[in-house]
Amino acid sequence: MDIGSPACFDVPELFIIFLIFSGKIVPWNSGVLIYPLSRPLNIMQVAPMAIDVLFPRPVFQTVDETDVCKRSRLREACLAIADKPEVKDRSKNNFHRVSTSHLVDDHLHESGAFAPLVDYVDKCSKVFLKSLGFPDSRITIDQMWTNVGEKGDFVYPHTHIGEAFMAGVYYVSCDPRDGITFHSDTDRTPPAEYNPLNYTTYYYDGQVGRLLLFRAETEHSTFPQEGDERIIVSFNLKLAEQG
Ligand SMILES: [Fe+2]
Repeated sequence: MDIGSPACFDVPELFIIFLIFSGKIVPWNSGVLIYPLSRPLNIMQVAPMAIDVLFPRPVFQTVDETDVCKRSRLREACLAIADKPEVKDRSKNNFHRVSTSHLVDDHLHESGAFAPLVDYVDKCSKVFLKSLGFPDSRITIDQMWTNVGEKGDFVYPHTHIGEAFMAGVYYVSCDPRDGITFHSDTDRTPPAEYNPLNYTTYYYDGQVGRLLLFRAETEHSTFPQEGDERIIVSFNLKLAEQG
């Protein structure tokens, strides 16, 4: 980020000569003495200032506008799964309040209703993986589950470290207000004003058909649900063995 120069001093050459010979300033190196005195001296050209922003946190995003994932069929399948007693029994703990099949059935990618979504995720994850610098690697879905939320449900900030190389989410049915928030893992003192150099969260709204992919270590959460229905499919992907 170029923050410009806070001050530029165009000092007449006679004034510079006067200051040097009167001892009021001392040339800090021979550069001053050989500086062409016919030109104005711009001190800030010696030490320009800038703020560099280091290290990306990539999130792949797209929207399935033509419904290649067959959301109506997906919605029915997700609702049937979430309605199972064993899913409901394990839907609430210290980290989330939502009906999730994560701990009961996380192999939905092997179910017929999810086949179009699996194909969509396969295509997108290959594009993302290549962009991340793995052009010769393969990636496959390792786990896939559904979260079916009702008003007030939430998921605390968490990562998928240890479970996956890459994780993702697809919005089957959702109020736009019930999207996902990504968090910086940098602990810092809250600023008086947020700007592009200090923000610590980034929000994607819950657009139906949206697909997001991100590295497993990227922290994310959902705030208490505002709409009546929020159905998403989440998944973990791993790098496949070559061969
Ligand atoms: Fe997650």
